Amino acid sequence: MCGIVGIVGKSNAEQIILNGLERLEYRGYDSAGMYVADRTSDHLIKAQGRIKNLEAKVTPEVTGTIGIGHTRWATHGKPSERNAHPHTSGNEELVLVHNGVIENFEELHDTYLADHHFAGQTDTEIVVHLIEVLKAQNSSTTKEAFKQALTLIRGSYAFALVDKKDSETIYVAKNKSPLLIGLGDGFNVICSDALAMLDQTTHFVEIEDGEMVTVQADEITIEDLKGNLVYRESYEAQLDLTDIEKGTYPYYMLKEIDDQPTVMRRLIQEYQGTNGQVTIDPQLKAEMIASDRIYIIACGTSNHAGWAAKAILETLTQIPVEVHLSSEFGYNTPLLSAKPFFIFLTQSGETADSRQVLVKINALGLPSLTITNVAGSTLSREAKHTLLLHAGPEIAVASTKAYTAQIAVMTLLAKAIGDEKAVQAAFDFDVFHELSIVASTMETLVDEKAVISQFAEDFLSTSRNAFYIGRGNDYYVSMEAALKLKEISYIQAEGFAAGELKHGTIALIEEGTPVIGIISEAVTGSHTRGNLKEVESRGAHTLVIASQELAKPTDQIIIPNVHPLVTSLVSVIPTQLLAYFATLQRGYDVDKPRNLAKSVTVE
Ligand code: M6R
Repeated sequence: MCGIVGIVGKSNAEQIILNGLERLEYRGYDSAGMYVADRTSDHLIKAQGRIKNLEAKVTPEVTGTIGIGHTRWATHGKPSERNAHPHTSGNEELVLVHNGVIENFEELHDTYLADHHFAGQTDTEIVVHLIEVLKAQNSSTTKEAFKQALTLIRGSYAFALVDKKDSETIYVAKNKSPLLIGLGDGFNVICSDALAMLDQTTHFVEIEDGEMVTVQADEITIEDLKGNLVYRESYEAQLDLTDIEKGTYPYYMLKEIDDQPTVMRRLIQEYQGTNGQVTIDPQLKAEMIASDRIYIIACGTSNHAGWAAKAILETLTQIPVEVHLSSEFGYNTPLLSAKPFFIFLTQSGETADSRQVLVKINALGLPSLTITNVAGSTLSREAKHTLLLHAGPEIAVASTKAYTAQIAVMTLLAKAIGDEKAVQAAFDFDVFHELSIVASTMETLVDEKAVISQFAEDFLSTSRNAFYIGRGNDYYVSMEAALKLKEISYIQAEGFAAGELKHGTIALIEEGTPVIGIISEAVTGSHTRGNLKEVESRGAHTLVIASQELAKPTDQIIIPNVHPLVTSLVSVIPTQLLAYFATLQRGYDVDKPRNLAKSVTVE
């Protein structure tokens, strides 16, 4: 969701900000804006829609040595130029960008700003007006007024504030939303994600909730809201620019689909110890072994990865597993077992729905693990343990390689726990061998692009709806396949437990409705075939994705055999490609679907 970049102490700030905003496009946005200034001039420009619309307004005189930029994903107030950030105070002296949601904005408005006029409808505009009022009321500095405002605000935020009378300082603060300071030589930057400023620096400093940072060209000063100074070491981002470039690919999503075999091999390398065992922190293993139930908490694709990993974890560890949607679990918490252990699955590590559960779990003193792609992300810092996905940055909004990496990491974890508990099924499962077979199988499948593109053309390019069906793991992959298809191609797609169709949903089947069956489970394959026959008799246009050992001559997409526990790692690949090609054929932007954000930092 919203992205923030800023720089102080370097000329051509406008260009650095535009580049940074482009690198934050993946987060999802509907408008963008920037403020740049130097000692003699300042410029505030905004545009609805893509960054290129903003870029078109950056005329040669729009230049500066300080600036803040923003991509907005609308929450309060529709997407429009008026609601785009930066917002200014009533006297137009203060300029603010914000990522997050201010929960008490109405209360702040009624208490402090009832007589103020606002240009748009955002909660952010309330904040910048509030800072102005506090500054005037107490004859204080901008910094003191900002600090005081932070004590009054409730909600999630990353803020960057500039006082037009001081073209050498950016004030920043965060609560629940990400924000980093990047350290340069004679300049400093701010950004929601290190990716945005990697061409400027690889050294970053984290900001914690409840801190305020004064960023100037030669120094940064971190303090808490009582004014106590905080010293924090910087860290070097383990990323390079090639990780975030598309190279010869037309879209990030295709690159990321193709990355999956490499990610599997990287995970083998990262998690294989010199003794041939899976390397997992002994403390983490001990806590999981002591638990009587594992609760997987996640949203969207990560939740689907949780479902795909459930049987793997249960088989190899012999510990029962429940999978929950974060947004439901936090407010409708089921009765917990006596010794629960929590796994938070989150590619970004910033998802607000998952974080609110983690906050509650931490308050109860319960053990937790975050499995994430982003080292140092909020959920990684706040959970007791972290395991990394090592998938490399995932830029396309539609998650692909993070899904398979999540399942693979949970497979490695399950193997480590099972070995420690001396579970026979774990002894019998050579995880590194099986994952290397998965990697080779993925390679075969990603090479099938021409064939799968043709199936997308035949089955999905003009369809208004579609169903994926399967049983067991094939059902869980169906849910993910349907999410992938709907989020980028806008086809109304559902993933169904094959046996459930006849209990109601079969009423939706009509002549030509695409129904895609996934068959990789020996025990349920024939039942799913029966369900496919039922929909065919009612006019459905059926496509079968089957594993080699269960395939019939008429099946269209055949998946080379892999170990039965990890079929979801490979059966999902053709469905990712079907979604990709159907979207291209329907003429939509694969990487940036409408209304969606990559990192969902509001509940
Ligand atoms: O970063 P997270 O894994 O916590 O994100 C969860 C979902 O928002 C995410 O998986 C979403 O469903 C993707 N757009 C799916 O492609």
